[in-house]
Amino acid sequence: MEGLKSVLRHVPAYVLLQRIVGADRLRYRCIEEIRPGETVLDVGCGPAYYFPRLPQPVKYHGFDTDAPYIDWAEQRFGGENASFHCGIFDEAAARALPQIDVVLLLGLLHHMSDEQCTELLNLSASVLSPGGRVISLDTCFEPTQGRISRWMSENDRGEYVREPAAFEKLALQSFGQVEGKVVNDATHIPASYWMMTMTAPTGSWAE
Ligand SMILES: C[S@@+](CC[C@H](N)C(=O)[O-])C[C@H]1O[C@@H](n2cnc3c(N)ncnc32)[C@H](O)[C@@H]1O
Repeated sequence: MEGLKSVLRHVPAYVLLQRIVGADRLRYRCIEEIRPGETVLDVGCGPAYYFPRLPQPVKYHGFDTDAPYIDWAEQRFGGENASFHCGIFDEAAARALPQIDVVLLLGLLHHMSDEQCTELLNLSASVLSPGGRVISLDTCFEPTQGRISRWMSENDRGEYVREPAAFEKLALQSFGQVEGKVVNDATHIPASYWMMTMTAPTGSWAE
């Protein structure tokens, strides 16, 4: 497993593996929720290989802590309407952004502790435009998954793979409306993901 983890630090290998397992198709399902003309923030964007599938026009801001991923994305997709930033998406970064219509957290929350998730979800809520939404996608554990799918969840690189109820509980701390569904028919090998849409922020920034 360590060998695979080091291979995945190589950007073309990461992108190729995503396509082989069909993880790209999961991302496209999330991207389908974006409408032309919207402003998108993608936290933990990685190499953002799904960027060409975004509806146009959009304004896009991608953040990731991994410099090779960001450099790869910037070279291919950077431009007037697409900026890529290397670093943690924090309070200072949030204050420098315009209002955001869609925040994407694709494959991120299951790498974060409850405390880190709460901080990120609060920050995401604080940048939303009226009517804006946060869309997350994560490997999950769910009762109907078979043995292979469960093995995939147990061996995910993320240390915080959760059940849907646990993701919802975290989201409900920051949002009044949370809807989610298990997606288990997108990848080429059995695997279960939790796709969640969060709206109606409840914190002081919503007043
Ligand atoms: C599993 S990858 C997902 C990448 C991409 N969103 C995708 O779906 O292919 C998670 C990414 O989150 C980044 N990451 C982790 N914590 C982060 C943070 N606090 N701020 C920004 N990026 C972070 C990692 O460097 C990694 O590239």
